[in-house]
Amino acid sequence: MGGSWAGPARAIRLWCEMAVGVLNTPELADKYLMQTGRRLPVTFVRGEGCLLYDEDGKEYLDLVAGIAVNLLGHAHPEVAAALIGQARTLVHTSNLYFTRPQVELARRLVDLSFPSRVFLCNSGAEANEAAIKIARKWGAHNREGAFEIITSVGSFHGRTLATVTAGGQQKYSDPFKPLPDGFVHVPYNDLDAIKAATTERTVAVMLEPVMGEIGIILSAPGYLAKVRSWCDEKDLLLILDEVQTGLGRTGRWFAYQHHGITPDVMTLAKGLGGGVPIGACLASPRADVFEPGDHGSTFGGNPLACMAALTVISVIERDGLVGHAAEMGELLHGALLGLGAKDVRGIGLMQAFEFAEPRAKAFQQACLESGLIVNAVDENSVRLVPPLIITGAEVDRAQATMQQAIK
Ligand SMILES: Cc1ncc(COP(=O)(O)O)c(C=O)c1O
Repeated sequence: MGGSWAGPARAIRLWCEMAVGVLNTPELADKYLMQTGRRLPVTFVRGEGCLLYDEDGKEYLDLVAGIAVNLLGHAHPEVAAALIGQARTLVHTSNLYFTRPQVELARRLVDLSFPSRVFLCNSGAEANEAAIKIARKWGAHNREGAFEIITSVGSFHGRTLATVTAGGQQKYSDPFKPLPDGFVHVPYNDLDAIKAATTERTVAVMLEPVMGEIGIILSAPGYLAKVRSWCDEKDLLLILDEVQTGLGRTGRWFAYQHHGITPDVMTLAKGLGGGVPIGACLASPRADVFEPGDHGSTFGGNPLACMAALTVISVIERDGLVGHAAEMGELLHGALLGLGAKDVRGIGLMQAFEFAEPRAKAFQQACLESGLIVNAVDENSVRLVPPLIITGAEVDRAQATMQQAIK
């Protein structure tokens, strides 16, 4: 940020420190933030590229990227410049009016993917919520009120009531019963299970092309193409949740491009804004059923977030980061195999491995202490989703640290 902000920022910080006395950041969080998740014992204050720095100035190599968000790493100068420029021009107007960055972003997304139009929102859950509403409206108009969506066991689609129900993980949904109707869960990579679950009520199949949150579970060769054919045969919509896989992470712009298919509806978020919250739901002409009044978002598609996203997309394109992600993904995969890790799996810069014993959390902590950020998704599995800009030297550095931590 420019020097003109340093003064006010310091003053606010000093005021906060005076106001809160001697409590450190975790203690303050405990006192004032709802405890919705567990945090690792570190407070980051700045970042640059693939590196993060804590309050004591300690450096960390970041293989998590804000959970598959910071595609261009931290504090990317062009994203920062775009944000500053847009903040000085126009941050928000609402969707009662037109703004140019919003339509430019929609056009860029459509040009990169498949013929469609775009609804812009603020998160992955909202993008999926839009997709679910599209499917229900499409079913009401085209399939005599069919409304059920088949999703997969273990999937993750967000934390709103509908998306947490769509996701196939009861630990996230069951505390909030009663849940909305209309979601049927089947095992992933099992076409016969989808076939068996399809009834007159079924309107769509909703899948992650790679299941991310549960620990990088790849779709089996041919699975998505066969699901596409089944959807065509039964007149169902295919919704692909590319919130985690989209925008180069798998070594293609979108993961569906590995499978020679296109979805009817695709959702994006995470990496799209380079860290600025934004989500998008794309619907092909067949599924483009929203009409004025059907859906909305006060902040969705605001000029600030859209300028960030336009910048992220143009840097990815200009710097060839999609191909780079494929190349670095292979390198990282090889590095993990070199560690002797079990069940190394992944595509592009979405990689994971398994411990035979419940050691993932201890491994994560050991890496953190040695200046490396990895993500233990459960007791046994570790997920790595670094920025797309990661270099070969950084992969080597990560491998050396993991080699020590794995002992
Ligand atoms: C595949 C997938 N869909 C949806 C979401 C929810 O996105 P958000 O947290 O932005 O609501 C996530 C988040 O991890 C995700 O991985």
